[in-house]
Amino acid sequence: MNPDAATIAAGAPIQVDLAPIAEGQDIKVFWRGKPIYISHRTKKQIQEAQSVALSSLPDPQPDSARVKAGHDQWLVVIGICTHLGCIPIAHEGNYDGFFCPCHGSQYDSSGRIRQGPAPANLAVPPYAFLTDTKIQIG
Ligand code: FES
Repeated sequence: MNPDAATIAAGAPIQVDLAPIAEGQDIKVFWRGKPIYISHRTKKQIQEAQSVALSSLPDPQPDSARVKAGHDQWLVVIGICTHLGCIPIAHEGNYDGFFCPCHGSQYDSSGRIRQGPAPANLAVPPYAFLTDTKIQIG
């Protein structure tokens, strides 16, 4: 039996099938009432995320600390701007990541803040791979 909507809203873990998400596509799901972006990153996005000098980042974090080992193509982040809480737009902006139009914060394809007023990277929610194509968030 699956949890009902009220239980999910209260914080039950959710499972997401990744198989239908094409390379280069982002989807948004909701967990605990928060928008969660799941990005199937392209090779170019992965390369860009891995090759950035950490010293150039406002909130230095290697890409490897933001994705699961062996699943580099999948980025899972909470879609709430760390500036004032707007919902950034996926696959937008100067860094092929996320753009928050509220005050112009730009995040890269690892969800790291690169430009604008946001002080921190997009948060990564707790999640785990159940299979190569299924994750559980929460
Ligand atoms: S809330 Fe995103 S830039 Fe201000």
